[in-house]
Amino acid sequence: MCGVVGAVLRDQPALEGILDGLRVLEYRGYDSAGVAVALSEGVAVRRRAGRIEALSEALQDGALSDARCGVGHTRWATHGPPNELNAHPHSDHSGRIALVHNGIVENHQELRRELIEGGVEFRSDTDTEVIVHLVARELERLDGEGLSPSLADGVRAALQFVEGYYAIAVLRTGPEPELVAAKQGPPLCVCVTDDGAWIASDVLALLPHGKQVVFLEDGDVARLSPGHCEVARPDGAAVERAAVEIQWRAEDAGMAGFDHHMQKEIHEQPAVLGRTVSERVGEGDAALGSGWTDEDLGGVERVQVLGCGTALHAGLVAQFLIEGLAGVPVDSDYASEFRYRAPRLVPGTLALAISQSGETADTLAALKLAEELGCRTGAICNVQGSSLVRAADSVLLTDAGPEIGVASTKAFTAQVAGAYLAAVRLGRAKGALSEVEADAHLAALRGLRGQLEQLLSDEAVAKVREVARSNQDAKGFLFLGRGVNYPVALEGALKLKEISYVHAEGYPAGEMKHGPIALIEPGMSVLVVNSQGGVADKVRSNLEQVKARGGRVIVVGSDEESLALADEAIHVPASSEWVSPILNVVPLQLFAYEIGLLKGCDIDKPRNLAKSVTVE
Ligand code: F6R
Repeated sequence: MCGVVGAVLRDQPALEGILDGLRVLEYRGYDSAGVAVALSEGVAVRRRAGRIEALSEALQDGALSDARCGVGHTRWATHGPPNELNAHPHSDHSGRIALVHNGIVENHQELRRELIEGGVEFRSDTDTEVIVHLVARELERLDGEGLSPSLADGVRAALQFVEGYYAIAVLRTGPEPELVAAKQGPPLCVCVTDDGAWIASDVLALLPHGKQVVFLEDGDVARLSPGHCEVARPDGAAVERAAVEIQWRAEDAGMAGFDHHMQKEIHEQPAVLGRTVSERVGEGDAALGSGWTDEDLGGVERVQVLGCGTALHAGLVAQFLIEGLAGVPVDSDYASEFRYRAPRLVPGTLALAISQSGETADTLAALKLAEELGCRTGAICNVQGSSLVRAADSVLLTDAGPEIGVASTKAFTAQVAGAYLAAVRLGRAKGALSEVEADAHLAALRGLRGQLEQLLSDEAVAKVREVARSNQDAKGFLFLGRGVNYPVALEGALKLKEISYVHAEGYPAGEMKHGPIALIEPGMSVLVVNSQGGVADKVRSNLEQVKARGGRVIVVGSDEESLALADEAIHVPASSEWVSPILNVVPLQLFAYEIGLLKGCDIDKPRNLAKSVTVE
């Protein structure tokens, strides 16, 4: 959700680096932004509603440019509308402390009442503002007790009163400015350099400063100074946190000549698949990564897939793959639902969380619940060092590189490829697949790279553009698929909703006659995903039912008979049915992209959304 950046430097100005960090993090929230720096006379704060560029213009006077310590924030509003007053940083009444926050203070109303009774006047509608006033109050109290508290002491004392989730960066002016960060829930990481220290809610903002990154743990309070980061637990006890070397490069987060991150990320898929698959595939088996032993996998009796949004769609494909290839029963749940029901998990269940960011609050909570219920935990995740990667017993790191476009694309194909590898490996460990069979399945996966390239050729992209043009004024869209391609239909509809704001529904094709068929009439476009395989003729009958009622049918897939029946056909290279979701999703991603463009939507920052949902 919100992006947080902070820096304290020995003898260089911090503002430009903080703004650059915010630009990188803008995909985490983009309704308002602000910075605060430590000047000798107090903190100086500038905030603006809207994008980082509006903030950057407001800083052109240079008044904040020389400060060596500062914090910055890009917001995705939770409490209070996205205006200048509610934008972060928030400061205390002495004007010496400023704070930025990602998360939710669940007891903010109670705390606000208590602080008002103590004489505090609030200046915003946010939950965040209570934290800065609590820090000021606690510093004053500790000072009154003659303790000369550091900012870290004040932050630790204040956080005892806060219930909820937070990643905060706080600064205090003084002869030596102080910068403190603390987390409970949302991520925070630190990069220490020879002449400074940087904090951010996302490693991407740290990469220009260094590749050695320390991920803070829940309950940590970190005190940053040039060349140092001291971490303490809530009781003040010091703790060591080892740095991790990050594999991504700063330039991976760029646009590489494309118009949008989403477009670039769709086009990266052949390379992503190559990276995710090639290094793991060996003779008749697949290496998944840390913590996956044959012994552990042999003991898996059931799999519980957990995820949200696109990641859950990949999880639904995983369900078909694991049941189909490894013969192990699978349940899939929205993480947000799983965590609030009373799940009954049989002994031997592997809870498998799928997430691009590794920071989705619901997915993390669901995995934790599964662990409490006695499950072994696994993760398919794209972000090294993320909370999910640190929480799971076994991790398969997809190699999709940074995904900046808010609509997830390359992460989905990487997750499905990862799930496929996991299914083959599980099948081998359980004795459900022979070496020859496993080899054949892995060869099918490896073969996809060239086919993905075909799907992204100029000609193939132009075909999708043409179909998008002829359907741009449709009243609504229905996406149908069956079997392993049913989740692809869900994903196609989700992409279109997110990027172009038109109504789209994904449905299992066989369910259509149980309700959604009532929607079919001229003006309704129906995208049918159908590839060669076990359910192709069933989907063809469903397609005929749509045509008979005047719906406009667009077929995406490799089933030639369906393609011949379609009003418009998007050909996808033939493949094994099991791997076909990886191919079929690509034209659907492009279709959403093209419709979004035709409608003039903000492709990389769709309204109301933010990348990485770190709150409930
Ligand atoms: C859709 C999208 C979201 C995410 C979901 C889970 O394009 O990006 O639906 O898939 O918020 O996010 P991760 O994968 O980071 O857990």
